[in-house]
Amino acid sequence: MKNAYPGTGMSRIAIIVAMAKNRTIGVNNTLPWRCPEDLKHFKALTMGHHMIMGRKTFESIGRPLPGRTTVVVTRDPALKIEGCLIAHSLPEALKLCGNHAFIVGGADIYAQSIDYADILYITEIQQDVDGDAHFTEFDLSTWREISREVRTQDTPQPLEYHFVTYQRN
Ligand SMILES: NC(=O)c1ccc[n+]([C@@H]2O[C@H](COP(=O)([O-])OP(=O)(O)OC[C@H]3O[C@@H](n4cnc5c(N)ncnc54)[C@H](OP(=O)(O)O)[C@@H]3O)[C@@H](O)[C@H]2O)c1
Repeated sequence: MKNAYPGTGMSRIAIIVAMAKNRTIGVNNTLPWRCPEDLKHFKALTMGHHMIMGRKTFESIGRPLPGRTTVVVTRDPALKIEGCLIAHSLPEALKLCGNHAFIVGGADIYAQSIDYADILYITEIQQDVDGDAHFTEFDLSTWREISREVRTQDTPQPLEYHFVTYQRN
């Protein structure tokens, strides 16, 4: 059973992330690989939905992504971003999303939300990658794999990656 944020009631929380074998997800506040099909996958899954992201991830993207409601989480009481909703805690962010949201990173936000997620969409990059942001360690035995799609690309860099979906047991 997953935990529930106090007062949030019924929820549907998905985490979406691309991570290397050594759990790297970022470097210098950007993605450490180029994988256009993964960006398409992200777009297809999140389109029309609410997305919750940390302030640093928002700065990395630099703009609200079209067709989705972006909730940026920050501790800065003065921060305002045109085209985005602002929340000062994860429970506040979830409330703005009616408790149905994609958690889209980064490392800090994933670590705080993994215990509350129902479903994980992980793009598993099949190699170690150097970086300075990593996906939180979590107990995979409490999740079951429900789908895996194996993909490869030659350009813009050779990469094998798997689109994997895990559901909480
Ligand atoms: N591979 C992927 O799928 C993926 C996805 C997303 C991001 N990334 C990467 O992840 C890296 C960024 O991750 P990160 O951990 O450095 O930053 P982050 O999680 O994006 O943002 C951290 C910021 O969120 C705010 N925050 C965190 N917890 C909060 C809370 N409980 N209440 C209120 N505000 C809170 C704070 O903002 P303030 O400082 O404004 O208070 C904090 O500095 C980048 O390299 C990015 O490219 C990778």
